[in-house]
Amino acid sequence: MPQITRRDVVKGLLAPTLLASRQMSETADAAISPGLREAAKAHGIFYGCAVKSSVLKDDADFVTAVSVEAGMLVPEYELKRGTVEAKRGAYDFSGSDRLLDFAKTHGMMMRGHTFVWHAANPAWLTESLKNKPDERILTDYITTVAGRYKGKFHSWDVVNEAIEPKQGDARGLRVDSPWYQAFGESYIATAFHAARQADPHALLFYNDYNVEMANWHDSARRTAVLRLLEKLLSAGVPIDGFGVQAHLKCYGTRFDGSVFADFLNQIATMGLKIMVTELDIADIGGPADVKQRDREVSELGRRFLDVAMANPAIAGVLTWGLSDKYSWLSEYPDYKWPDGSLSRGLPLDSSFQRKDLWHALQSGFLGKQ
Ligand code: G3I
Repeated sequence: MPQITRRDVVKGLLAPTLLASRQMSETADAAISPGLREAAKAHGIFYGCAVKSSVLKDDADFVTAVSVEAGMLVPEYELKRGTVEAKRGAYDFSGSDRLLDFAKTHGMMMRGHTFVWHAANPAWLTESLKNKPDERILTDYITTVAGRYKGKFHSWDVVNEAIEPKQGDARGLRVDSPWYQAFGESYIATAFHAARQADPHALLFYNDYNVEMANWHDSARRTAVLRLLEKLLSAGVPIDGFGVQAHLKCYGTRFDGSVFADFLNQIATMGLKIMVTELDIADIGGPADVKQRDREVSELGRRFLDVAMANPAIAGVLTWGLSDKYSWLSEYPDYKWPDGSLSRGLPLDSSFQRKDLWHALQSGFLGKQ
């Protein structure tokens, strides 16, 4: 059996399963023990992460880490409308194609994020939605993009973040969304029908955030999500699953496993699959001691994962990034550390070393105490 080296992985010559079954160390000809993808597979689900194509191009050590750890990739921004169709009719798939090629080379699955969101839209789109709302601006786009990747993606976040109870709508809908403003609630069903038509193979998900914690806002969001999903299903809308973004906060709010488990059970009872789609854990507000913070973040991660894994509808878990070196948490005003230090909310630190959270996820996947 040839010695597998980091160089081989970087050259993309190896399927990670082969790589993960052998050892690599921290030097160029080193060995890395099997990653989270192997642990998740042992439980019959997959683990993956969001990646920016630019980083894959520029950081060979990160390429190795992703190759070992991830069984699925999701583009962090390359399949958002503002990137794909910055100019009307001029599609740019360079980033998403690069990620799909990487996924195929390394034996990974791929998922898409997202056709319809109130954010990350090009200016021309929001203008058109305001002035001449024609549904084809929604359906033609989905047909084009889903059609391009037909049969190549595991799943899509068809609609992202369509609810926001803080806006006062009785149904908890995000009524300030340009899509809602243009078409009313029906834009959601329209998007799912167009996606199913364009790619009958991909699983179609509705994706949203802040449904995890035991506080008023998350509780109102859970209620609105359940109402929306029930309404879509009873109208025969082709939806296969719900994506729990899981941007968790370790300090300043409370996770109640029984509350979250009950919510997931209601989703599963509808016959929907569940995916954790964007897991990371903001550590802002935590102690200055990094070791203590890492430990407390990993404890929350494990408690959260145990609830998700206990639900038979769970299909997979993705983190929103793999390494603290490239986490949005360190750029987002509400979560970033004022002194500029990196948030530590992902499985690997900024040198791609496995942290307590990595071990918590691995043992959670394996069902180990
Ligand atoms: O690629 C351009 C670059 O060419 C340009 O020089 C630079 C200048 O600002 O912008 C770069 O694009 C940025 C992109 O991330 C890639 O880094 C956009 O400005 C920036 O807005 C974009 O932020 C992303 C954000 O969604 C909006 O799309 C974050 O990386 C991404 O982590 C975040 O992810 C969202 C999920 O889609 C939905 N759930 C919440 C999650 C966190 O906000």
